[in-house]
Amino acid sequence: MAYTVPKLEDFSAAALDKAVQELLSAVRQEAEALAGENDWKLFRDRWMARKNGILTQVNDLWLKAAPGPAKREVGARVNQLKSEVEQTVDAAQQRISGHVSQARLESERVDVTLPGIHRPLGAEHPMLRTMNEIVNVFRAMGYSVAEGPEIETDYYNFEALNFPPNHPARDTQDTLFVAGQEKKPQRDRLLLRTHTSPVQIRAMLATPPPIRIVAPGKVHRADTADATHSPIFHQVEGLAVDTNITFCDLKGTLDHAMKSLFGSNVKTRFFPSFFPFTEPSADVSITCFKCGGKGCRLCKMSGWIELLGCGMVDPNVFKFVESNGYDAQKISGFAFGMGVERIAMLKYGIDDIQLFYQGDVRFLEQFA
Ligand code: PHE
Repeated sequence: MAYTVPKLEDFSAAALDKAVQELLSAVRQEAEALAGENDWKLFRDRWMARKNGILTQVNDLWLKAAPGPAKREVGARVNQLKSEVEQTVDAAQQRISGHVSQARLESERVDVTLPGIHRPLGAEHPMLRTMNEIVNVFRAMGYSVAEGPEIETDYYNFEALNFPPNHPARDTQDTLFVAGQEKKPQRDRLLLRTHTSPVQIRAMLATPPPIRIVAPGKVHRADTADATHSPIFHQVEGLAVDTNITFCDLKGTLDHAMKSLFGSNVKTRFFPSFFPFTEPSADVSITCFKCGGKGCRLCKMSGWIELLGCGMVDPNVFKFVESNGYDAQKISGFAFGMGVERIAMLKYGIDDIQLFYQGDVRFLEQFA
């Protein structure tokens, strides 16, 4: 919309008025049509740019061209026109910027009285919470934490733990084997670890004696899922090897751990058992923390709850890690292993192990 300023032939007052009025109504019309900041800038420059803006053209075409006697009159009109145009441009700017921020305010309006967005806090899963609690009891006694792979070799899961090939003790482990391993020597064949005990071997190969570790982790067994069995569950393993470690140390350590986990009133009982990698071996029970030993549904009227397996590290196991300083003539140790879900079920009165794996918020939020 290039507005060309007409040349003036007639410098009479009437002709000047008419020309001025035309320009004024043009500038006002344009000002009203402006929609935004960019429009306004173009508008301002069209009218007020020093070089070839409309006001400059007016100056050149009217004032400079005016014959001597008319100059005064023309000068006054041109000045008036200038100040009117400047006012219109300023007013337009105010209208535009006011307009923009009003629109912005409108679109950004926040209702501070609305309720906030509720973000429910996550909570530690009861199985993990129990696992951490167990690990922390032993960390407080100077144990460090070790881990091992869930897909293990036959060697670490069985052979180095003194389960000879084809020994019937392997049958008790309900092993899930990885398919397609037949071409490998038996010790290299892969399986899903059935217990955390292979971490004992890995830890002793990595660290010479003395050693004190706990190894939390996932284990697998070919069990059908029911209220007390799951093909995947968790254990915490423990191993302590040093000079002069005795069965008394094992009893004292586990007695302290059970009191920390279940309350200082519980008593522990060690019952002879068998594991290929410990000798002697024991199953540990605690007095029923619900009935105090009198007999109730929880302890099946026996007064005792069986919790874990343990024993003194079998000298045959040390043979597999002898190269790292484990000389059965000079050192001794104990080991233990416990099922995390079982302990969590007892602690929290949970009657179905499947609840740990179903992710049902109604169950989980009870632990938040
Ligand atoms: N690994 C054994 C199991 O899963 C438990 C155990 C660990 C027993 C360490 C003795 C020593 O049954």
